[in-house]
Amino acid sequence: MRNLYESSHPLVKHKLTILRDKDTTPKKFRELIREISILLAYETTRDLALEATSVETPMGNAPGALLQEQIGLVPVLRAGLGMVEGVWEMMPSSEVWHIGLFRDERTLKPVQYYNKLPVSPTVQLCIVLDPMLATGGSATATVDILKEWGAKRVKFMGIIAAPEGIETLHGEHPDVDIHIGVVDEKLNDIGFIVPGLGDAGDRQFGTG
Ligand code: PRP
Repeated sequence: MRNLYESSHPLVKHKLTILRDKDTTPKKFRELIREISILLAYETTRDLALEATSVETPMGNAPGALLQEQIGLVPVLRAGLGMVEGVWEMMPSSEVWHIGLFRDERTLKPVQYYNKLPVSPTVQLCIVLDPMLATGGSATATVDILKEWGAKRVKFMGIIAAPEGIETLHGEHPDVDIHIGVVDEKLNDIGFIVPGLGDAGDRQFGTG
């Protein structure tokens, strides 16, 4: 798939292994989500546009480059919250726009309960943050909302995906780059990623 980027970074693989472990505590789980998100952000932002400039050093003039685009980080509540902080530290001038969705356990369809987007778009690139891409319903609904809002360029950044979720998101939004830590085997019959890591929201917030 042209715009699917699965991380091959050894640090991501190492941290993912500990993240999946059923005995990893919520505190450690949150630290890992934060650290993996920073590593994935490095890969996700590889093609950001730059503007040439120069800078005065104590020794003279040096050529430089500054980010040209305004970036919006869009964490999907709740589980996406743990991904924001680290990524935001790397790009402190980004704006953060929260979208709240939960998956109806019976239908597996996303239900929107929060949207803090302003009336018109203020950023050139939106990066959706959600650790899990399971059926792909939540990610697709989030991109629908962003495009309806007027977002021109959207990327999705997640930690674990099922092939079914990738297919759905890519099928509905083929222009959206999908950056993911790892693509797992499958979805089970209750919509969980296998082998996955369980429920990323519950494991971060200690509600499982
Ligand atoms: C999880 C996850 C995604 C969604 C993925 O959230 O964080 O948002 O499910 O599933 P999908 O690809 O099938 O839509 P959940 O609904 O459990 O809510 P939470 O983040 O509040 O725990």
